[in-house]
Amino acid sequence: MIHQLKLTNFKNFQSAELTLGPFSILIGENASGKSNLRDAFRFLHGIGRGYSLADIMGGKYIGGSLQWEGIRGGITEISFQELPNFCLEIVFDLNGEQKSRTGTYQIKVETAKSPALAVRSLREQQSLKSFPMPVGALVSQESLKIGDEFVFQTHLEYMESHNIRVSVYRSGKADQVIDLVAASSQPVITQLEEKLRMNGASDAQQVIQTLRETLSVFSAMRFFSLEPAAMRIPSLPGQIVLGDRGENMSTVIQAISDDPQRFLALMEWIKELTPMDAVDFEFPVYADGKTLLTLVEKNGQKVSANSASDGTLRFLACLAALLSPDASAFYFFEELENGIHPTRLHLLVDLIERNVKRKHIQVVATTHSPQLLRLISPASLDTAALVYRLEDQPCGRIQGIANLPDGAREVIQTKDVARLHESAWFENVMSFLEGDAEE
Ligand SMILES: Nc1ncnc2c1ncn2[C@@H]1O[C@H](COP(=O)(O)OP(=O)(O)OP(=O)(O)O)[C@@H](O)[C@H]1O
Ligand SMILES: [Mg+2]
Repeated sequence: MIHQLKLTNFKNFQSAELTLGPFSILIGENASGKSNLRDAFRFLHGIGRGYSLADIMGGKYIGGSLQWEGIRGGITEISFQELPNFCLEIVFDLNGEQKSRTGTYQIKVETAKSPALAVRSLREQQSLKSFPMPVGALVSQESLKIGDEFVFQTHLEYMESHNIRVSVYRSGKADQVIDLVAASSQPVITQLEEKLRMNGASDAQQVIQTLRETLSVFSAMRFFSLEPAAMRIPSLPGQIVLGDRGENMSTVIQAISDDPQRFLALMEWIKELTPMDAVDFEFPVYADGKTLLTLVEKNGQKVSANSASDGTLRFLACLAALLSPDASAFYFFEELENGIHPTRLHLLVDLIERNVKRKHIQVVATTHSPQLLRLISPASLDTAALVYRLEDQPCGRIQGIANLPDGAREVIQTKDVARLHESAWFENVMSFLEGDAEE
């Protein structure tokens, strides 16, 4: 599970901290920074995929086709107000064979038009020599800790043109250190396993295992911004990875339905969600071998994904995401309530809350729906967060609902939280509190 994300100079956050629970709703006005938080998680996910900094931010092509869309705004708009660098820190549980351990990973990236100049000025602040100018983004600081002990740590003072020095600590002790040199154009964490092996550090197996477990936390993230049009595109049986917009929904549902128990669970959800009396799925195969999900009603009427309603498809895609055999650990949904009727929204909440409990997955969702806030359990309300900006200030802020002062929490417990959300009460409380703090 991911516990916390700290952002420094990332997008519209100068300095902010997001604390997560099993199900975390992000509320906040348009342009407050909710999707920028998704971008921060995507950046970390890009590291988990083993991509270079340029590929993470600019987009990754494999064999000529785009595998990964870069971060919105690319390298020039990733740092707060075009500052020369940004930093992300994430706190998470490692779930390896050893008992659960807490990891803290940090990466600072120079993104100035001339990142080398930015690094040089950092070095000059430390009265160090200058060095030649590379182009593109550079890592200027990166580390991984388990508890309080470093697994590895970079050293800016030994940074060379395209390289950065790294110390790897075999068991957290200074005398167990292995010094290496890594490329600074790529997150160091993805280079270390190979470097340790090349270095003949065969006794660093435990470090390698920790690196792998950390990267698997980053790679097990999925991001959904569902669009019914994408779900209406037929897919080939065997394509069981749901696309970010809901692509391959038909064959993911087909794979889930192969398991009789999961099929029944799916049917129950669909019956509850829609006024349809669905009893079965069909997967008619077209000439090109692709198939499109068709719902069969009790009276025999068939409705293909082509003519199923947008809300039905969105709900099906959520089901496909959460029940898919290709499971992940962390799901980020953009505007979760989109297209779902208010009387059915509780089903979606129910689906997510049951699945985070049973499967130990984690869900983060942005929303503009006051209703959703009313429907989530008290535990989920506690891990919801408000993303906001104060008037006339460019930087975004994050306020966990659990950490609101006592007076405000009492109001939440006694008043209708949906009404409070609708009337911008949360934003007003924050501007009142921060106004007080500044006086
Ligand atoms: N590098 C940056 N520096 C400062 N502000 C930035 C930067 N990049 C983006 N922003 C701000 O972030 C805003 C976009 O934030 P984001 O897309 O996260 O909003 P959101 O909360 O998801 O809104 P919506 O609910 O409309 O989707 C932009 O309007 C811009 O003001
Ligand atoms: Mg958004």
